[in-house]
Amino acid sequence: MATMADVARSAGVSVATVSHVLNDTRPVLPHTRRAVLDAVEELGYTTNTLARSLVTSRTRSIGLAVSAISNPYFTEILQGVEASALEHGYGLLIADPHEDPAHEREVVRLLHERRVDGMIVAPSAEPRELVSYLTRHRVPAVFLDRIVDVPEGEDAPRFDQVGAEGAEPTTGLVDHLAGLGHRRIGLVAGRPGLSTTRERITGYRHGLAAAGLPFDERLLVHGDSEAAAGERATADLLSLAVPPTALVTANNAMTIGALRAVRSRGLSVPGDLALCCFDDFAWADLFSPRLTAVAQPSRDIGAQAVRLLLDRLAEPDRPARTLRLPCTFVHRGSCGCVEQPGPLSEKSGHVAGPSGKADAKAHERTLP
Ligand code: HPA
Repeated sequence: MATMADVARSAGVSVATVSHVLNDTRPVLPHTRRAVLDAVEELGYTTNTLARSLVTSRTRSIGLAVSAISNPYFTEILQGVEASALEHGYGLLIADPHEDPAHEREVVRLLHERRVDGMIVAPSAEPRELVSYLTRHRVPAVFLDRIVDVPEGEDAPRFDQVGAEGAEPTTGLVDHLAGLGHRRIGLVAGRPGLSTTRERITGYRHGLAAAGLPFDERLLVHGDSEAAAGERATADLLSLAVPPTALVTANNAMTIGALRAVRSRGLSVPGDLALCCFDDFAWADLFSPRLTAVAQPSRDIGAQAVRLLLDRLAEPDRPARTLRLPCTFVHRGSCGCVEQPGPLSEKSGHVAGPSGKADAKAHERTLP
């Protein structure tokens, strides 16, 4: 393998000059720069990041620990992280803690041992040990999706955080269903202990209160953020003596579970059960009727996490920031509004409520 010294010899310059050209650390005359790049090309030289890391104490790598990596929401986040990291010259090491606090601690330790420059973590429902590890070892870290209570104070570590708004968009879904005349609106909530679950429950309760509807605890069930549990939870709701007429599902996987429960009982959406979902996903418009959903800005969540981390690496003592990104309401047919025949774009078009009256809250809007 060609070394930097080989490149320097071939270009007729010093090793320091080769290093300045490759790392952009000092201006170099254009013809010298050209000679170095030609030698790099000719010799097939590639940077030895191990050697560079020994000198700089940086690996230009980011550790990403995200559970449920196969969930399209997290896959899109990963795409956002990867694209943004690459743009800034960083590579990724990826781990899946499977929502298990012990596993989470282990993967974070492994990433730390690989000397990533910083980490982006979607914390589990019990993140105490995670926070304590990152604090003890002073690992620069950004929390993503799930917002964590972190210690405050002069000496406290500074963790930046980024996630989508959870409460207001859920209130918007309840408001929409209540506006269509529903009085018994159920919620299939996510995994207990996650901030995203708490916020969506808060939003649900606000929506009921704003519509003058009582909170009935029998209509709030937990689907553990996964399809199978979402199916069981929805089946429980449908078995109530007086089942809900409308349902909000708090994530994409539980929406799939809810649809399975509805189908296995021979019921239909929205005739027997109107449905509004948190999370839009690539196939949401293939269901019949198409799914009315709240879309999270998943790629942007990933990109912002990288930005927060790189800012932190550049300025370790800067004040911690928590970014909450708005969601988008994607109005389709599963809520019970009649979709107009013909090619209906997701972002435009005419929607009428069950009364046949045009729904003024038409297609896509940003929820606060
Ligand atoms: N958090 C937020 N949104 C989601 C999740 C999650 O864990 N899973 C699917 N959508």
